[in-house]
Amino acid sequence: MATYIVLLGPPGAGKGTQAQIIAKEFGLMHVSSGDLFRENLKNQTELGKLAKGFMDRGELVPDDVTIAMVKDRISRLDCEKGVLLDGFPRTPAQAEALGEMLKGLGSKVDCVPYISVPAEVLIERLSGRWTCPACGRVYHEKFNPPTQAGVCDADGGALIQRDDDKSETVERRIRVYGEQTAPLIAYYRNLGVLAEVDGTQSIEEVGKLMLAAIRKVA
Ligand code: AP5
Ligand code: MG
Repeated sequence: MATYIVLLGPPGAGKGTQAQIIAKEFGLMHVSSGDLFRENLKNQTELGKLAKGFMDRGELVPDDVTIAMVKDRISRLDCEKGVLLDGFPRTPAQAEALGEMLKGLGSKVDCVPYISVPAEVLIERLSGRWTCPACGRVYHEKFNPPTQAGVCDADGGALIQRDDDKSETVERRIRVYGEQTAPLIAYYRNLGVLAEVDGTQSIEEVGKLMLAAIRKVA
């Protein structure tokens, strides 16, 4: 049966960083709703143009378009063995929609690692983040620097800083997370699938904690 894992945590907690390790380890497809929006934006699709305004303000893109986009992605053939969801669901309505969809497939959310990190640490992480737009690899100028500054270790591409990592947008994103996404901690705890992980440890240590939590169920 396919495995479905949801990575939960505030902006900058390390969802994307850990997803790269976990997806490989368990042979799952990494599906990041933020990356899907950024891809649409790059390709100038109608969805990308709609999402841009919300993303630039640090707000959530409306549920209906977000749910439709993720459903379409996870129903593709390359997601057959299961999916590692990063950044979705982010509202109770999205969580309900995901549960319904998986129920239709005879599946469910198997595990929700929740990476917990306090706000002041998040701001430092996001202000020093650099990303490879080609392969999605994530770096930090202090905590996880590339071998050569500004260049991706994996594909040699030029690294960029995300538009929504400006300090005022970051503060808004953290606030929106607290209001709209944090209720999912209790939601998944009630379903008995939440695994809280201390995200203030090093990248390697957080990775070990997450793998141990997921191995118990996946
Ligand atoms: P999205 O792209 O999902 O952004 P996010 O949730 O704000 O999360 P981030 O990608 O910023 O953080 P992360 O947890 O992946 O951290 P990372 O690994 O990069 O969403 C962007 C926007 O799209 C949203 O604001 C919204 O508008 C829209 N959107 C997306 N999904 C949506 C949805 N479902 N519904 C509605 N709207 C949606 O790490 C951060 C930095 O820290 C890196 O530099 C990394 O190197 C470093 N780092 C990581 N771990 C550690 C560690 N343990 N120690 C030290 N440094 C670390
Ligand atoms: Mg991310």
